[in-house]
Amino acid sequence: MSKKSSNWYKKHINDEFVKQANKENWRSRAVFKLREIDEKYNLIKKNSRILDLGSAPGGWSQYASRKHKNIEIMAIDVLEMESLPNVNFVQTKIEDFQENYLKNKNFGKIDLVMSDIAPNISGIESADIPAMLNLAEEVTNVALTALNLRGNFLIKLFQGKGTDEYLNDVKKYFEVLKIIKPKASRPNSKEIYMLAMNLMNN
Ligand SMILES: C[S@@+](CC[C@H](N)C(=O)[O-])C[C@H]1O[C@@H](n2cnc3c(N)ncnc32)[C@H](O)[C@@H]1O
Repeated sequence: MSKKSSNWYKKHINDEFVKQANKENWRSRAVFKLREIDEKYNLIKKNSRILDLGSAPGGWSQYASRKHKNIEIMAIDVLEMESLPNVNFVQTKIEDFQENYLKNKNFGKIDLVMSDIAPNISGIESADIPAMLNLAEEVTNVALTALNLRGNFLIKLFQGKGTDEYLNDVKKYFEVLKIIKPKASRPNSKEIYMLAMNLMNN
């Protein structure tokens, strides 16, 4: 292990959220971001149909599936993901999902689209932020196609050039828009979450 990656590893295992995730048997520390948002806005409801985009290793799907037994989750990721109760996993890129799956007439409408998708980070802002916005555009197209009227949409973004324009575009489709920095989101990262609630007629 290089010195840089061994420093990262030391920080990671000492991280309180990592320790708590291990103790409570969650697949990722990301679960605490979703849990904080869900505890405030009650996004994950009984009998809902949920689309989890960028789902691996599965923390968010695991949280939704543990919260309610009567729930239907479709999860997608480019990487593999181990199975979970009530979760139907498809290994695909978000870029191919709309064409290959969403266009199927039997797909049915979704109550919550949640996306934790992130590009591989280079650390160079002028590359990472546009890469994130490109993915966000793909995700948003999926959300606007898949969601029920009054459905909700949660997405990870990076703060930076172009993000405000993206938020202003999305605002047109929803009644309410919130920007959230959960406690488990590292304070020095540009990561934020947008929660758009109550899709209006699009
Ligand atoms: C931060 S992780 C998600 C963690 C997850 N929410 C959890 O709780 O376990 C981001 C995921 O996005 C996926 N991803 C990145 N680009 C993608 C793309 N173009 N299509 C689908 N998934 C993608 C990555 O493979 C990665 O698993």
